[in-house]
Amino acid sequence: MARATLTLASLVDAELTRQAASAAPVVQSQMVAATHRSEEGENRNPTYRQLARSYDTATAMFNAFRARAVDLLQMTPSEVVVDVGCGTGLCFSDLQHRIGPTGWIIGIHRSAEMLAQAELRCARHGWRNVTLIESDADSADIRGSADAALFCATHDVLQSVSAIGNVLGHVRPGGRCAAVGAKWAPPWLTGLNVFTALAHRPYVGSFVGFDEPWAVLLRFVPELRVTELAFGAGYAAVGTLRD
Ligand SMILES: C[S@@+](CC[C@H](N)C(=O)[O-])C[C@H]1O[C@@H](n2cnc3c(N)ncnc32)[C@H](O)[C@@H]1O
Repeated sequence: MARATLTLASLVDAELTRQAASAAPVVQSQMVAATHRSEEGENRNPTYRQLARSYDTATAMFNAFRARAVDLLQMTPSEVVVDVGCGTGLCFSDLQHRIGPTGWIIGIHRSAEMLAQAELRCARHGWRNVTLIESDADSADIRGSADAALFCATHDVLQSVSAIGNVLGHVRPGGRCAAVGAKWAPPWLTGLNVFTALAHRPYVGSFVGFDEPWAVLLRFVPELRVTELAFGAGYAAVGTLRD
């Protein structure tokens, strides 16, 4: 699989070089903006600073996966959920339908621009039961105990032991966690993997761990149940934290 990943990386690099050549001013300004950031992921991917306002449209094709992630959590009214790497809050609506006005969403994201969009979404809908925390997941100051944690399209977070540890440390025993996202399909599905690489490159800091993105989470939640989606180009994982 390492060889397939390497091949993909070169394909993606070639495509990005081609795009850069045909859109030099945009790419250059993104790189300049990115140098002002200290977070590694944001340096490699200025998307969240530059394109926060178009993020919802650009990733709308993945909304069915977001709905699936929320379904897996089986939230009930009045429950509290941590939406890790919540972005612009694209999962909030489905979560609100489940938890109702007496429940609570804690959204964590490291990009102020993305959180600003999440804030606008909350204001638009009149949701007052949302706390937004601008922070890395590993150092986020999460208050109280949640019933569930959601990791929707958060590959980089899922590679971090400290991020998962911090979040799950604030989920009650017996609480749930769910993760949904993209992964490499089997290597012979080259076309699908190239599509995956191009579609996710703007939003993923590193493709390390893309064979089994849930592997670190599995260490925390041994009973994690993983289902492959989209011919292996996606996955959904759900589990219960030990009492
Ligand atoms: C692809 S977005 C997904 C956003 C949202 N969950 C969705 O479904 O659209 C993943 C986000 O996680 C953020 N992220 C990556 N590592 C993070 C970390 N350690 N702590 C907090 N956010 C992180 C990235 O900046 C990125 O915006």
